[in-house]
Amino acid sequence: MATKLEEAVAQRLEPWSAALGADRPVYTNHVLRVLSFCDALAGRTSGNTTAPSTREEFLTAAVFHDLGAWTANTFDYLAPSIDLAREWLTANSREDLIPLVVTMIDDHHKIRRAHGAEVELFRRADTIDVTAGLRRFGMARNDYRAVLDRYPATGFRPRLARFAAERTRAHPLSPFPMVKW
Ligand SMILES: [Fe+2]
Repeated sequence: MATKLEEAVAQRLEPWSAALGADRPVYTNHVLRVLSFCDALAGRTSGNTTAPSTREEFLTAAVFHDLGAWTANTFDYLAPSIDLAREWLTANSREDLIPLVVTMIDDHHKIRRAHGAEVELFRRADTIDVTAGLRRFGMARNDYRAVLDRYPATGFRPRLARFAAERTRAHPLSPFPMVKW
């Protein structure tokens, strides 16, 4: 049976199933891993009402953070992803969260530490997933494995590699436009 978290993510991604196409399960699991890592880094169990993954700002940032890569068909996807998050928050009367969520998405590939507890937690969680757990910010190896077992990363890295290859062909001098110092 799907958990509340899985349902919340599936519901938010539903309108984008055509844009995601065959990548939908790949992206869904990435979102669920990032949210699970947020919970683990915060010392919370997923499903607990105090877990970051139950908060609208984390759900929205996670669901939309890379989505522009598919909807706008570009590896320079921070701006289109931010636009989608802003639309969702406006449609759901959570305009109050727009400044925070915009920063969470905009800084999620920052190389250096980000400002703001939520922004930094989200950046760390995404980094754990993109580095396949090589960087874990103190998270136990077993906690990392448990998340991977539940939400396998099958197809995730090959997809990123294809995005990177397409981008490098089109913009050889700017292969990773979404990475910030
Ligand atoms: Fe990501």
